Amino acid sequence: AVNCTRLPQIPLPRDIFGEWKNSEGIDLNDRPTLLETARGVNAIPFEPEGGDAVHADPHHPTGRSRAAIEAGRTPDADVHNAVTRAQAAYPEWDRRTVNERANILERWADLIEENRIELMGLVVKEAFRSIPDALSEVREAADFCRYYAQRARKDLTVHELPGPTGEYNALKMEGRGTWATVSPWNFPLAIFTGQNAAALVCGNSVVAKPAPQTPAIARKVVDLAHQAGVPEDAITLVTGGADVGAEMMSDQRIAGVAFTGSTATAKKIAQTLLVGEHRPIIPFIAETGGVNAMIVDSTALPEQVAADVLTSSFRSAGQRCSASRLLILQEDNADEMIHMLSGAMDMLHVGDPGDPATDVGPVIDRAAYDKMMAYRETMRPRWIKTVAVPEDEGLFVPPTMIQIDDIEDLDTEWFGPILHVTTWKAGKLEETIKRVNAKGYGLTMGLHSRIARNADLLRTHARVGNAYVNRSMIGAVVGSQPFGGEGLSGTGPKAGGPHYLPRFCAERAVSIDT
Ligand code: NAD
Ligand code: ALA
Repeated sequence: AVNCTRLPQIPLPRDIFGEWKNSEGIDLNDRPTLLETARGVNAIPFEPEGGDAVHADPHHPTGRSRAAIEAGRTPDADVHNAVTRAQAAYPEWDRRTVNERANILERWADLIEENRIELMGLVVKEAFRSIPDALSEVREAADFCRYYAQRARKDLTVHELPGPTGEYNALKMEGRGTWATVSPWNFPLAIFTGQNAAALVCGNSVVAKPAPQTPAIARKVVDLAHQAGVPEDAITLVTGGADVGAEMMSDQRIAGVAFTGSTATAKKIAQTLLVGEHRPIIPFIAETGGVNAMIVDSTALPEQVAADVLTSSFRSAGQRCSASRLLILQEDNADEMIHMLSGAMDMLHVGDPGDPATDVGPVIDRAAYDKMMAYRETMRPRWIKTVAVPEDEGLFVPPTMIQIDDIEDLDTEWFGPILHVTTWKAGKLEETIKRVNAKGYGLTMGLHSRIARNADLLRTHARVGNAYVNRSMIGAVVGSQPFGGEGLSGTGPKAGGPHYLPRFCAERAVSIDT
């Protein structure tokens, strides 16, 4: 158990989340640029789809009900028709050269950058993400397009395979047909763009379903894809919730599924894809949730730990799959660390997403708010620290640090700004890592330590897709930090990595007796 009553709290410098990832031409670390960007972003008009004004207001006491959002079945939700159109568009798109499709992806990236203020405005107003998060999304969406374009030119060529047979042997990488892509609301721009860019550049057509909370962002990105040269029906959008998604999964003409969302939904989809005696066996890429832990030993630099914990657990209101849910402190200096963290948490400004001073915005909707607040309330006796939020009945969950006795006491992904804290004993690092592995998730794990052997233990024993040492656990960079997990966290292919595109392809070998 940790005791946090004795030591003074030490606040950190104001720039809580450190350096913001920039999109070309915007440096949010420069204050005048930040303010000008915020003005532009806030001026973007936004009409919530479904005509329900409360969808756009994080302060509304009853607003953004998930049932209302899910019920918003629009004319775009004709799944059968969308698949028919995408199937018809597939052969011509697949016949184009890889270079031609890659050029189109690069034009798409340029258009995303050119339209960044409008896209950021939609991300802030529809998904309630902060201005720095919205900028990161623009950058990541453009990065996905450019990276997959480059990889496609390199990887999707015909590989001639000379050998002892005396024949002409070659391996071709081609599109498989029409993919279904299903994405979440927490990266409504970057993940939506990344999935579809990957599927398209390989020669597939796609039927794309964004989360029901964020259709306007997806509509804009698809519009930009068409402007860039993707044929009208090669990417078709369907909007709606779980029922529309389930209908897509039941369509036996689908040639592959790329899904990002919760573990529970991934399991439902996996079951659906098995139904039907004559249904083809198709690839299923699932990128799902995590119960991610950061382990800290007594050699770690406390100020760096405090900054990285805040970023990992509270940035984006904790609504990242990569976020740290569990902090495991070496018991020898756990009290000191908790005091520093508590002081740092006092610096967090919880507020409107469009306010440049905001560190932590609202959660996505009423259902998410109710779930997080009910859980937080049941843990009230274990609170170590919580911070003030705007005084209304909106969607602002107070960032909260909660003490638990054992690593095993947390086995669920709480998708919001709640951090659990427990301790480990000196000499037991390997065991601690293995106890985290035993949860069955495998997305991110972090370590703060100045001991090289401890970093080696993490590298050797952590069963996660992304292990981070002496840094925050969020913000994987396309091309440098391929992202994706294992076990309950997903099927493994890593977005933004060198092995992603082949998963979207059919590999076809041709042998000719010359
Ligand atoms: P969710 O699973 O509720 O929904 C994700 C998408 O699936 C939405 O578009 C939804 O409409 C659709 N869907 C729901 N039921 C469906 C069904 N039966 N068939 C087909 N589609 C269906 O998840 P969410 O609440 O939107 O997103 C948060 C979750 O996503 C968290 O668990 C988070 O960890 C995870 N996530 C993972 C990654 C990653 O890369 N590993 C990235 C972001 C988010
Ligand atoms: N790729 C996102 C991150 O690393 C989820 O935070």
